Amino acid sequence: MSAIPSSVPERLEDELRKRLASLDLEAKVRLLSGKDHWSTYAEESIGLRSLILSDGTVGIRGVRWTETGTSINIPSATAIAASFDPELARSMGSVIGAEGRRKGVDVVLGPVVNLQRTPYGGRHFEAFSEDPQLTASMGAAMVAGIQSEGAATTAKHFIANEAETDRTNSNSVVSKQVLREAYLRPFEAIVEAGGLGVMSSYNKVNGTPAIQSELITEVLEREWGFDGLVVSDWGAIRNVDAASSARGGTDLAMPGPKTAWADGLLDAVREGRVPEALIDGKVLRLLRLAARVGALQGIGPLVDRETLPTPPLAEALGVGRKLRDAGTKGMVLLRNEGEVLPLPPSVGKIAVIGPGAVTPRTNGGGSAAVVAPAAVPPLEAVKAALPDAEIQYAEGVRPYTLVKTLSAANGSAPGGPGVVLIDFLDAESAVLGSERRHRCDTLTYGMGYPEGVPEDAVTAIRASTRLSVDAAGDYVFAAAGSGYAHVTVDGVTRLDDELVPINSDAVVGMSLPPQGLIQLSMTPERPLDIVFTYTPVQKTVASLRLGFETAAPDPDALIREAVEVARGADVALVFVGTSSEDEAEGFDRSTLALPGRQDDLVAAVAAVAPQTVVVVSSGAPVLLPWRTHVDAVLLSWFGGQEMGWALADVLTGAAEPGGRLPVTFPADEQNLPSPRPHDGDVVYSEGLDIGYRAHARVGTAPAYPFGHGLGYSAWDLSAMSIEKHAAGVDVAVTLGNVGGRESRQVVQVYVSRETTGVVRPALWFAGAAVSEQGPGAEETVTVPVPRRLFEHWDEGSGSWSLEPGTFRIHAGTSSADLPLAMDVAL
Ligand code: BGC
Repeated sequence: MSAIPSSVPERLEDELRKRLASLDLEAKVRLLSGKDHWSTYAEESIGLRSLILSDGTVGIRGVRWTETGTSINIPSATAIAASFDPELARSMGSVIGAEGRRKGVDVVLGPVVNLQRTPYGGRHFEAFSEDPQLTASMGAAMVAGIQSEGAATTAKHFIANEAETDRTNSNSVVSKQVLREAYLRPFEAIVEAGGLGVMSSYNKVNGTPAIQSELITEVLEREWGFDGLVVSDWGAIRNVDAASSARGGTDLAMPGPKTAWADGLLDAVREGRVPEALIDGKVLRLLRLAARVGALQGIGPLVDRETLPTPPLAEALGVGRKLRDAGTKGMVLLRNEGEVLPLPPSVGKIAVIGPGAVTPRTNGGGSAAVVAPAAVPPLEAVKAALPDAEIQYAEGVRPYTLVKTLSAANGSAPGGPGVVLIDFLDAESAVLGSERRHRCDTLTYGMGYPEGVPEDAVTAIRASTRLSVDAAGDYVFAAAGSGYAHVTVDGVTRLDDELVPINSDAVVGMSLPPQGLIQLSMTPERPLDIVFTYTPVQKTVASLRLGFETAAPDPDALIREAVEVARGADVALVFVGTSSEDEAEGFDRSTLALPGRQDDLVAAVAAVAPQTVVVVSSGAPVLLPWRTHVDAVLLSWFGGQEMGWALADVLTGAAEPGGRLPVTFPADEQNLPSPRPHDGDVVYSEGLDIGYRAHARVGTAPAYPFGHGLGYSAWDLSAMSIEKHAAGVDVAVTLGNVGGRESRQVVQVYVSRETTGVVRPALWFAGAAVSEQGPGAEETVTVPVPRRLFEHWDEGSGSWSLEPGTFRIHAGTSSADLPLAMDVAL
């Protein structure tokens, strides 16, 4: 086959149609379901190879979710959006893209451009922002970055998929205007930026399953001209009617091989219930994407991966440094009384408190999680950054119930290397294959067994380890995984039970597995042999986990111990946050309070420490009831694998806390949208008033407003001017660094309208510009505001419309601090 440059689209289209025409119906239908969990069928007769797909939001998980396939772990989306810098999103996208190249991935399942409609949303951390425009600019930049490395992206989840509760059945009820102005906006921006794929979501939207919503065919494809691939969310085309789901706009049903289409689509076409032309359209989209990523023989890809530099070991390309800088640019300093931060190099005694100082939360739970090669504990990073300080650590609290993962410190696999020996057993308990594993948090097999292990024959998985301890005491061993657990300790059965997860969502079974606990009294002289035989409920979610730690101490005693450490220190650094038990895929949060006794811990420490700095690691807003009683509050989000170093940089002033809030931090839980369906419906009754816009409407103040964040210098915004042109307006803002050190400021532009005849937010974000300046320096930055941001969706005419009149343009440093304003008549 001759090479056809993709820069000749008509010729490419002709060629794709020619190849399509050579396929019979059976071959075409076969291509529309996955071959397995992460790949598609090849079709040799037309030179099509199999495509590999992989999640996709903070790294590239690859086809095996284990420590044998680690991935660079960038900060999660909210942390990236906090930079308000699309260039940073693009650069992080290119890190993901390069990882995709290293792991042979053609289609990256991301980014998530659903909005942070409610802080309760379980996958809030995977999304960029509560604001449509900020999400749009971050999402489009991330897509450009990933695709610059030759992979395709699938922006997800299309559409109105802002909640996890009963996520495969719930129906999002949302008006056309709100869809257009808020929830569709990021997808539209990504199509404009050349995004090659979209993932259709599990939920229904206004009564129709999103996989077959006309928003795909009518808006995404016809109106916006998207000619890429629409892939279903995993399993969304399983228990549905083949014909009606295929008549909708989704092109590829994943994962395979069992999908409703694999079972029933061929007959549906033969019986005339689905036109063959529709099948042709779907296959054509698949071929187009395949051509663009170089999976169609003889057709050059959009980006020739062969010509890009060899995919890196993280260090070789300085990715570590890049991730560390990105981490600091996203960290948000909410409060800094008496300029307690940055810590001076002369700081004497520091109390470091909280388990997050030792086990950083680098990413959130669920399909987004990757296994990072390593992540330095913030405690170690702070020690390295302040070598002369006297640092004492106290655990303070255990705000989680999942027992800590068994590690090499206490576990060794019998008869050889590794922490645990895994045997795959058939129905007669014969061993089908074995492997030695070095980590126990990632024993996931349902999506792929090791080579040579016949998946269909596996009935149970046996994990064997020898436990040993350094100090005599009480310990707890946890056997976790949805299914049946049988555990012997030195040959004696100690657990024989069914372990049932909190809900039936397959992803929850993996990321938040139910656990069975065994209390053990141990001494260093007497190790114990553990054999955990696990029979998964379904083989597709075969995921087990082994936990081990000291028996839970008395919570009051833990706090008392931390208070004693804090009392003798000059400054206390308290690490609090959420865990994968609170923020993950497959369920929503029921409270915004920090889990466990963390609030009590902060209050108790703040009462005795001369200065208290609280570092919050979460992917979503949490309540900070003690915020005015502590000196500083710093958000590190889920900051990626370099989060420890980035934190040390910010705490010591080696870097600015560069981030600003991409989401409102509420003061309490009043009037927040719920993610929970009522009678099946999640009603988007707040309309366009998401997050900060709700506060602007009624004039209330949250704990910390959208856009807020402090740096280590002082800035002055002195002047603003506006230039009108056909495509919108340019807003120029002059600002100066009037403090004593180099710093970063995010100038934000918002729009409002005094008198209007249409439903619109009281205030809306229109764009931002970053300024980085030394002390005394001044510059003028320009924020372009496209015309679209002055328009509204007119439901009557079904089109965008500009209401003539005066708009007010505001500039400042948060949605609640807008010192400059000018009117513009449009
Ligand atoms: C998630 C998607 C993800 C897919 C594959 C689904 O459960 O909703 O975001 O890409 O699984 O892991």
